[in-house]
Amino acid sequence: MNKNDSAYFIEFAEHGDERGNLVVVEGEKDVPFAIQRVFYIYGSDTDMVRGQHANRKSRFVLINVAGQSKVKVMDGLGNEAVFCLNRPRTGVYIPTMAWKEMYDFSPDAVLLCLASEHYDEGEYIRDFDEFENEVAALQKDSAR
Ligand code: TYD
Repeated sequence: MNKNDSAYFIEFAEHGDERGNLVVVEGEKDVPFAIQRVFYIYGSDTDMVRGQHANRKSRFVLINVAGQSKVKVMDGLGNEAVFCLNRPRTGVYIPTMAWKEMYDFSPDAVLLCLASEHYDEGEYIRDFDEFENEVAALQKDSAR
């Protein structure tokens, strides 16, 4: 992945006791941004691929609070990483300008998504060629 801001696993602290498990995710503490938006995905068929977009502004942390799924993250420079999310206390951080695809959903999967920004369709890039072009343009700018 792009070495400046890569995708990575985050392990959350477990505050469980004999009553059961409890995982806390606080903005700017357990995830590296203030949480502006929460959404969750469930009921996706096993052969369904979701995501297939990059965000110019939003950063995300994805957590399979139930079941499992995989997340493929691509940096537009030829690097990609696949994260298997299969534990409620493990998340994956996704930086801006990363192409992401979520797939291999188990029937019981509930994928919780925490985002750094409110929803704005205008900051989504849904075309892979456009994504690669924008990444190339950003590379050019930063090399100046
Ligand atoms: P989409 O981004 O395609 O979902 P995914 O990334 O899981 O494949 O979003 C599906 C629909 O929901 C689309 O019409 C936009 C809408 N939506 C919102 O209104 N707000 C949101 O925060 C999100 C994530 C989606």
